[in-house]
Amino acid sequence: MSINISIVKDYDEMSRRAARIIADAIRNKPNLVLGLATGSTPVGCYQELIRMHKEEGLDFSRVITFNLDEYIRLPPTHPQSYRYFMDENLFRHVNIKIENTYVPDGLSADLQRTCKEFEELIKRAGGIDLQLLGIGANGHIAFNEPGSSFDFRTMVVNLSERTIKDNARFFKSIEEVPRQALSMGMGTIMEVRKIILLASGVGKAEAAAKSVEGPITTDVPASILQRHPNCIFILDEEAASKLVRKAR
Ligand code: GLP
Repeated sequence: MSINISIVKDYDEMSRRAARIIADAIRNKPNLVLGLATGSTPVGCYQELIRMHKEEGLDFSRVITFNLDEYIRLPPTHPQSYRYFMDENLFRHVNIKIENTYVPDGLSADLQRTCKEFEELIKRAGGIDLQLLGIGANGHIAFNEPGSSFDFRTMVVNLSERTIKDNARFFKSIEEVPRQALSMGMGTIMEVRKIILLASGVGKAEAAAKSVEGPITTDVPASILQRHPNCIFILDEEAASKLVRKAR
């Protein structure tokens, strides 16, 4: 088992390649259970999916989505909440039923219960068919920071200093960045049927190389994906620049 690598020229090509895989999956299975990610990386892919919906009739009416994570105590009206991000960057531009879009509820009064229920919802939907992932500069996936167990399920996590700093660019000041989030665990993610991980830019090159070619270690959470039976990394040339073995 190893990660399939697809190296493309740049961010736009990465986005189009990912959107095509997702669109094909939706056409093959109109009630696809689709796992979604936030961050700057998947925005271009979402734009391409919106274009396909508008120009080619790509139909989201039966698609069910699960997002990887959400900040704790940021209301859905906050522009940096992941619910807001998804509404703005994808959901309100396509014909998805909003009640079929699940983002963990970071405002819940009972976060442990919310985590359990999120796992239950995924199970009841029949499991996630296709999961889109980004990667943090430290190799994190969703909010599974270095050191997180590979067995974890959806849980409350403390963000690392590195991630707080990386994500501060989206907030007015670093103090505003939430210190905690709800996140699917690596155990949850490893059960999805197919994974597409996107990475663009030289800032992700080291994380991509370590994840693909380094040892499988909790120090680099994405390295566990080497054990996933159906995982593709779509990297642009900069993100692939530290790989020793290039595209197969
Ligand atoms: C956040 C998200 C991750 C995302 C990462 C990288 O920490 N929780 O899901 O992959 O940021 O974000 P970006 O794509 O903006 O580099």
